[in-house]
Amino acid sequence: MSSPKIWTHKGTFLLAAVGSAVGLGNLWRFPYLTGENGGGAFILIYALTIAVVGIPILIAESLLGRASRKSPIMGMKYLTKSHGTSSNWQIIGWMGAAAAFIILSFYSVIAGWAIHYTGLMFSGSLSGASSETIGAAFGDLLASPGLLLLYHTLFILASGAIVGMGIHKGIESGLRFMMPALFFILLIVLAYGIIAGDAVAAMKFLFTFNLSDLSLEGWLQAMGQSFFTLSLGMGAIMAYGAYMSSEASLTRTAISIAVVDTVIALLAGIAIFALVFGSGMEAGQGPGLMFVTLPIAFADLPGGILLGGIFFILVIGAALTSAISLVEPVAAFLVEKYGLSRPTAVGIMIAGCWLLGLVTVFSFNIWSEGTITHTLFNRSPFDVLEFVTNILMPLGGLLIALFAGWALSRDEVIREMATNDQWFKVWQFLVRFIAPTAVAFVFLRTIPQVEGYLIPAVGSVLIIGAFTAGRTFMVNNKAN
Ligand code: TRP
Repeated sequence: MSSPKIWTHKGTFLLAAVGSAVGLGNLWRFPYLTGENGGGAFILIYALTIAVVGIPILIAESLLGRASRKSPIMGMKYLTKSHGTSSNWQIIGWMGAAAAFIILSFYSVIAGWAIHYTGLMFSGSLSGASSETIGAAFGDLLASPGLLLLYHTLFILASGAIVGMGIHKGIESGLRFMMPALFFILLIVLAYGIIAGDAVAAMKFLFTFNLSDLSLEGWLQAMGQSFFTLSLGMGAIMAYGAYMSSEASLTRTAISIAVVDTVIALLAGIAIFALVFGSGMEAGQGPGLMFVTLPIAFADLPGGILLGGIFFILVIGAALTSAISLVEPVAAFLVEKYGLSRPTAVGIMIAGCWLLGLVTVFSFNIWSEGTITHTLFNRSPFDVLEFVTNILMPLGGLLIALFAGWALSRDEVIREMATNDQWFKVWQFLVRFIAPTAVAFVFLRTIPQVEGYLIPAVGSVLIIGAFTAGRTFMVNNKAN
């Protein structure tokens, strides 16, 4: 057996996990969700969920990776055997791989839009353009399968190239260069937002809250977002955790990841809303916030076109460091299981994702209506893919929390977390009961029929789930 692969530096796991966490979720989704949900109250619930649910699951997921030192699929197989639990828990690995595959297929298409906007900005074709022209430019992009396909191909090839070069020469070196550069660009954009835009209005919008502003839907979106932004529930963190130095403290690392990710989302929020408010526009623009509203602000402000180009480079880079963490778990599995070379494994993964990405590409134009998914589910094919991942991710997180909370022994968790009994008990309580409850809410929300029955449904899922999980392990595992 070959010796386990470990990151060269103790801090690389932190860097890699932050790279995975910070992406379109921070720069695109967080600001527009905050905008739609009235600002501060949304952020409060989001931050609370990160602390109480996100961090414990983040610890659980990296713990499973490091304890197995294998790709998520093989790692779960090993852990279920070594801990004498039902082999059904291996589904965590398989669901994660399926989610990674589907997410990458559309993440790449959307990241591709940022390539287009970088070009639009630097070529100056938006300078002085009216808001109608800029709005139409987004429509034109979506209407062109050829362009979308080109960018999708470029983006997915770039992610594949980095992962294909291996965890040291590719992922580790790539991140050590990209992450500081991205942070630096964010600071430039932020400084510009403060100088050219209305930072006071932005801060007021983000940091004053009135809880009654937030609907139940807003609560659930905030919880879902805190989950999505930390890349939880689908094995990406587990795969990176497998390479984590045994010396690094899981607890401290998980808290750092969550804090950095949140700070970056907030800084991006301040920059974006300062520009949007500075140009006299509204916050609640939905998904078009980054691709229509923000370009209008850039076109309107002095020096905005140059800064806009720089901003979209930031978006591409942040998406790229997330995309590589989607390629890694599946590629590592193909290498481990079938003995493929890394470039071949990566090639297979991205070829598959590229092909599935065509579904997203066409969903915005030739398949935007009248397809089989419209007939069956009243949604575009892309919406169906996104819906499936919105189920797979929280479900994966739920199972990860239950498995880590019930199957792992007290001693091994305390050793891995480098913590004392008290903190262990807090963590265990959170992953056994609180995180599953919260995640069950988010999860059941994605099923429309459940809406009116949300609270009783979550209650019964939990009682049955916790009971089953507890029993499965109590029987076989005396370590608890
Ligand atoms: N966290 C990423 C972002 O905010 C999105 C994401 C969700 C993700 N799950 C992931 C990225 C898994 C990589 C791996 O953009």
